[in-house]
Amino acid sequence: MADVQFEHVYKLFGDHPVVNDLSLDIADGEFLVLLGPSGCGKTTSLRMLAGLERPTYGRIAIGQRTVNALPSKARDVAMVFQNYALYPHKTVRGNLAFGMKLRRVPKAEMNRQLDEVATLLGLKRLLDSRPAELSGGERQRVALGRALLRRPKVFLMDEPLSNLDATLRAQMRAELIRLHTKLNATIVYVTHDQAEAMTMATRIAVMSKGHLAQVGTPQQIYDSPADLFVATFVGLPKMNVVTGRLGSVDNSPVLEVLGRTIRMDPASFVSPNSSSSAEVFVGIRPEDVLCDPGNPQDAIYGDVEVVEPLGSETLVTARCDETTTLVARVPPRTPIAIGDRIRIQINTQHLHLFDKTTQQSLLLPTTSGPVKTWQPEVFAEVRAN
Ligand SMILES: Nc1ncnc2c1ncn2[C@@H]1O[C@H](COP(=O)(O)OP(=O)(O)OP(=O)(O)O)[C@@H](O)[C@H]1O
Ligand SMILES: [Mg+2]
Repeated sequence: MADVQFEHVYKLFGDHPVVNDLSLDIADGEFLVLLGPSGCGKTTSLRMLAGLERPTYGRIAIGQRTVNALPSKARDVAMVFQNYALYPHKTVRGNLAFGMKLRRVPKAEMNRQLDEVATLLGLKRLLDSRPAELSGGERQRVALGRALLRRPKVFLMDEPLSNLDATLRAQMRAELIRLHTKLNATIVYVTHDQAEAMTMATRIAVMSKGHLAQVGTPQQIYDSPADLFVATFVGLPKMNVVTGRLGSVDNSPVLEVLGRTIRMDPASFVSPNSSSSAEVFVGIRPEDVLCDPGNPQDAIYGDVEVVEPLGSETLVTARCDETTTLVARVPPRTPIAIGDRIRIQINTQHLHLFDKTTQQSLLLPTTSGPVKTWQPEVFAEVRAN
C-alpha cells in the first residue's frame, strides 16, 4: 500500500481548467472520497492519478515517487471505472482471473482467492457467464472483484456502485468498509453520492468546479463546513439558509435572525469582509429546527406547506415569512398537517455563519489539530425579556 500526493495539480482542456490547483495528501491506508457535483473534475483527477490523463501542471506522487511521466501500467494501481471495462469475450471467471494469470499465481491459490472474492461479491453463480449476459450491477461487481484480486498499491474507484439497486448498494458499502479495514488498503473513491462519502470515507475531499473546497473527516465536513457550497451540498435534506444581520447590544455582538436576537461569543467568529453591510447568511440544519419549542416566548411561527413522511422521520417545510421557509426533521407520526400553524425554535448551538459575498464560513477555526475545524458551539442565547 502507499500514500498519494497531488501538489498544485492543474488540468486544462483548451483554456478551460477542469482541475484547478489541486493539492491533497492522502495517507497510506486511507479511504479518501472525492465528493462533488457532476462535472466538478472528480473523474479527471482520478484519471490523472491512474496515468490515463497527464496533468497540465503540478506533481502527482504515489509512495513518495513522482509518477507524472510513468505509464499507467507501471503505477501499480487498480481502477474500477464509472463504465466498468470488462473483457467481453471472457467469462466472469476469466475476467477475474486475468490479472492473476499474468502474475503467474499458482492455480490452487488463484482458485482460493477467486472463490473468496466471488463469494464476497455474490458472483459465484455467474462465473461462467459473459459480460453481455450480465446486468449493469453485476458487471460493476465483476469490475470491483477484478480490482480486489489485483492487490495494488492504491485502489482507484470511480462511482463503482452507481448501477446497483439501493439494497445492494447499502450492502456493498458495508462490504467496502469491511474490506478497507481488512486489507488496510489505500482507496481513492469518487462519488457524487454523499451517503457513500459519509459512510465509507476516513476523509472526504469536497470539490466544486475544479477547486478543492474542503478536506476533513465526514463529521468535520458536516459539522463545520468551510463555505456555503460545502454546507448546502453535504447534508440531506439541505441546510436551511436565511439572511441574518450582525449587530451589537451593550457593546456585545449579536446576530439578528428570524426576528430573534442571539448573543455571540466575540471570539467565535470574524466579521464579514464585505463590511458595507453586516448582513450574513445563517445556516441551520433541518435537525436544528425544532417544531416543539420548550419556551413559547422563543417561538418563531410558521405555516406548514409540505409534510414528507419518510418512515423513520418526517420532513416538514414551513413558511415563516414571505421570503423564508424552513425545513425541519421531526420524529415519525408527529401530528403536523399541511396548513397547520406551528411554533418553531432554532437550536442556536449549531448555527453556521457565512460571509454574504465570499460565502466563506465566518466561524473561527479551533487550534486543536492540523485539520481546520470551525466551532459553532460557542453561540449563547439572549434570554427573551
Ligand atoms: N477529454 C476532455 N476534453 C474536454 N473536456 C473534458 C474532457 N474530459 C472531461 N472534460 C470536462 O471536464 C469537466 C470535468 O469532468 P469530469 O469527468 O472530471 O467530471 P466529474 O466530476 O467526474 O463528473 P460526473 O460526476 O458527472 O462523473 C467536465 O466539464 C467535462 O466536460
Ligand atoms: Mg465522473
